[in-house]
Amino acid sequence: MSASPENTAGFGHGKVILLGEHAVVFGHPAVAAGIRAGVRAHISPGSGALSAPSWGLEAQVGDDSLPGQAVGRLLDHLQTDGGGLDFWLESEVPARAGLGSSAAMAVAIARAVAARTGAGDADVLAAAAAAESVFHRTPSGIDAAAASRGRLGQFDKQSGWQDLPLKTPFELCIGLSGQSHDTGALVAGVAELCTRTPVARRLLDTMGDLARAGMDALATGDIVALARLFNMAHGLLSGVGVSTPALDDLVHIARTAGAPGAKLTGAGGGGAVIAIAAEHSDEVLRHWRAKGYYGFTTTIGHD
Ligand code: MEV
Repeated sequence: MSASPENTAGFGHGKVILLGEHAVVFGHPAVAAGIRAGVRAHISPGSGALSAPSWGLEAQVGDDSLPGQAVGRLLDHLQTDGGGLDFWLESEVPARAGLGSSAAMAVAIARAVAARTGAGDADVLAAAAAAESVFHRTPSGIDAAAASRGRLGQFDKQSGWQDLPLKTPFELCIGLSGQSHDTGALVAGVAELCTRTPVARRLLDTMGDLARAGMDALATGDIVALARLFNMAHGLLSGVGVSTPALDDLVHIARTAGAPGAKLTGAGGGGAVIAIAAEHSDEVLRHWRAKGYYGFTTTIGHD
């Protein structure tokens, strides 16, 4: 890209949900963290092209594709005409893998636009939320909040994001199933389950309780207790039907390699798992690799 004062860039973080995914859609709190890896958006004068080579994405703002629609909605929100701009994305997070790639993209683009127009943080978040509703229909807003904040926090639909105190930083292993998923369809599936089988709501209520317990564990630095909560949460998420054989396999491999806690993260139905493994992190990554899964580590509380 040519250097020009009209070229601007913005960054959005990928995210992991530690506890409370799906329950957060029903009004419960969840615990999430923005991770170091994310998406950088570059904007330059152009003709509305939207490209992300690492995702194989080539679209046009406002075309029929979901990213084209989402970015169109985002720009409407920021009262910016995308027709005279090109958007080029560098991503360190895989698409549709449970790590908040769409929210990271939306925050990155909204920030790059804000760098040209002077829009504030609240506008950036609202624009990213508008883009997210194109991707995921009725998102809680947690992904966009984590993508913009980039650190550990709690989120609920009523109060939004609040940073959480963390006694000691800790490492998480992230394992990718290699299967992409559709968050909107998974959220709709859980809602349908609750309609058909109302007792399922109690599982979601308990997931909210696990998130609250997780906040206490984080505040006291009790990472082993947090790991136990991960295991319970994975069981409940399986119970509402969002785990898959590959996610169960990743969780099982991590625990066998010495991780005291592991669970799926995000919407499920594919995507990723997280494991607290402490001194066994290398073992977990090695065992995942041996079974054909890609994994990496990230530090929660990195700043
Ligand atoms: C997706 O990262 C998290 C879900 O709870 C959906 C949402 O909160 O919008 C599954």
